[in-house]
Amino acid sequence: MKTRIAGTGHFLPKNVVTNDDLSKIMDTSDEWISSRTGIRERRLATEETTASMSAEAAKLALADAGVSAQDIDLIIVATVSADHMTPSTACEVQAAIGADHAVAFDVNAACSGFLFALQIADMYIKQGVYKNALIIGAETLSKIMDWNDRSTCVLFGDGAGAAVVCPAQDDNQGLASITLGSDGAKGMVLAGINRSNNNPYVKTDIGPHYIHMDGQEVYKFAVTTVPASIEKVLDEAGLTSEDIKYFVLHQANIRILQSVSKRLKVSMDKFPISLDHCGNMSAASVPVLLDEVNRKGMLEKGDKIVLAGFGGGLTWGACVVEW
Ligand code: UT7
Repeated sequence: MKTRIAGTGHFLPKNVVTNDDLSKIMDTSDEWISSRTGIRERRLATEETTASMSAEAAKLALADAGVSAQDIDLIIVATVSADHMTPSTACEVQAAIGADHAVAFDVNAACSGFLFALQIADMYIKQGVYKNALIIGAETLSKIMDWNDRSTCVLFGDGAGAAVVCPAQDDNQGLASITLGSDGAKGMVLAGINRSNNNPYVKTDIGPHYIHMDGQEVYKFAVTTVPASIEKVLDEAGLTSEDIKYFVLHQANIRILQSVSKRLKVSMDKFPISLDHCGNMSAASVPVLLDEVNRKGMLEKGDKIVLAGFGGGLTWGACVVEW
């Protein structure tokens, strides 16, 4: 028995911030940002929170799947920017949508988080422990950006994407293969810093919790690891890249996507893009883009797509899904 994606949804904050808007508050330009990344604008939260965006995306995914909140057994939110250390964002979503029977928890695997959540849900569903799961990738990265670091803060945006996953009706549908990976030894090339020990026995001058990134190292990691992980899941599913309708990848940088398309010898037409209007939303990138593709009617039953994420940890994940 396989796990299928039965419905998707996404929610973005209403505040649109263009590259030109950023150039008014820091030393940057539309030319620098768009030529190096493909990003033209992003949404930055004002009153929206990680939990509120997650709940809105979840409601849309439930409606798309035709499943009620009461039918949800499991909620997993992938995020590195939860509003609280506890309760988890998933517990907040449970309360907001009235999923009274669900077990709820968060996972932290940065930009690969949606893939990690998908595999956890798949395991529970295949074992028969839970039937209907809500998996969400959500971030309010703007609150953990260093707004004095122009090399990082211009890249990221806020948003949330969700999917309802449940048992497939037949074996020609659902998750065909999935791989995850981690390389903690390289963790500090993309890190949310500043949670040092601080108690009566050790005093730390705790500063804000900022994201710090060595962009070139992350770039090198992405352009080698992503094609390798995609080739692995294609191989495991007995497919080639020609069988795949769309490659729904984490939206970090257009140059990374172009490099992956070149290495896989696949046209860029098969790589849907949301980074131009969303920026990099870490765990939210993959499910937001998946929902955009779904809502545009670009997917039909039987289509095969690849989802892939990569980022902080370092972590990565890829899967093949038959729609
Ligand atoms: O989810 C995974 C997320 N990670 C990524 O997407 C990172 C992948 N890496 C990248 O996409 C690229 O490394 C970046 C787009 C982040 C940076 O591009 P780069 O070509 O590696 O730029 P750089 O960091 O080497 O900086 C080049 C120049 C520097 O000036 P100097 O020293 O050459 O005079 C920077 O100070 O660009 C300058 N710079 C900027 N200028 C205008 C850095 N940020 C900006 C900016 N606006 N926002």
